[in-house]
Amino acid sequence: MVRPTILTMLVSIHYKCRGGLYPRSNIERFTVPDEKVSWSTEFIEYKPVNYTSPHINGKPYADPDIGDPNFKPNFNQIDGKISRISYTGKYNVENRYPLNPVGRTGITGRGVLGRWGPNHAADPIVTTWKRFDNGEVALDENNKPILQFVAIKRSDTGEWALPGGMVDPGEKVATTAVREFREEATNSDTMSEAEKKTWLVKFDKFFSGGDVVYEGYIDDHRNTDNAWMESAAYNFHDNNGTVVGGMKLHAGSDAAGVRWVDITSDFELYACHKKIVLEVYNKLLLQYSESS
Ligand code: BGC
Repeated sequence: MVRPTILTMLVSIHYKCRGGLYPRSNIERFTVPDEKVSWSTEFIEYKPVNYTSPHINGKPYADPDIGDPNFKPNFNQIDGKISRISYTGKYNVENRYPLNPVGRTGITGRGVLGRWGPNHAADPIVTTWKRFDNGEVALDENNKPILQFVAIKRSDTGEWALPGGMVDPGEKVATTAVREFREEATNSDTMSEAEKKTWLVKFDKFFSGGDVVYEGYIDDHRNTDNAWMESAAYNFHDNNGTVVGGMKLHAGSDAAGVRWVDITSDFELYACHKKIVLEVYNKLLLQYSESS
């Protein structure tokens, strides 16, 4: 059962998708100063480059071009098996092009993103308290318990990130979060039948009890004025450390590494994943102090 807890809008302005080169291209974004991000602020000089990567052409996860006469997207709605609804509310559509709900990014088109408008992902945050071999919870220098979560190293940017991924058409978002965890952090593709059975016995219950901790826009370096990333993050917390202790981590084909990361002041993560993880940390710390 999924119980919504924190549903926050963490992003009021974006940084990672402004200025500099667009990923995997030599396309320079038009520079957008902080005060010109909002669409409601006039920016007469704004002349962003239009760019849609040729690599997404005809890909099963990609929409056709807006000009394609057979493409009649229903923005702000569930469109067949695809959700074109934004967690941020109703977004504007101008001359048939959906507009990024946070504002200007310095580039139009879809870049490397498949969908016009929101591109939905899901992120699992698997956490437990760090423990010594004798089972005692490890404390930091401020006497607070240390929380650990599973991160993967992304093979595209080399950054550590939550082991999330894109929601498949028609798939439930909570299902995506668990599927991506299995694929990216336990390499379920290479699991033997026996390992798959063990997973069912040991972990299925644990992974059916996630809490939604974030649903919203992601400040992702791939975002454009007309296509952007959104994610729903689910926390799967093992309070006693009895479940995840037995979990074998193996980077899946999309990841270059996987590990438990201690939440300390100096960890960095992809996109705005750190902010989401810190929200989870603060929530769990509060629960911990209330229960001890
Ligand atoms: C990643 C997710 C991430 C999303 C937005 C996806 O490609 O797999 O972990 O939240 O992009 O940045």
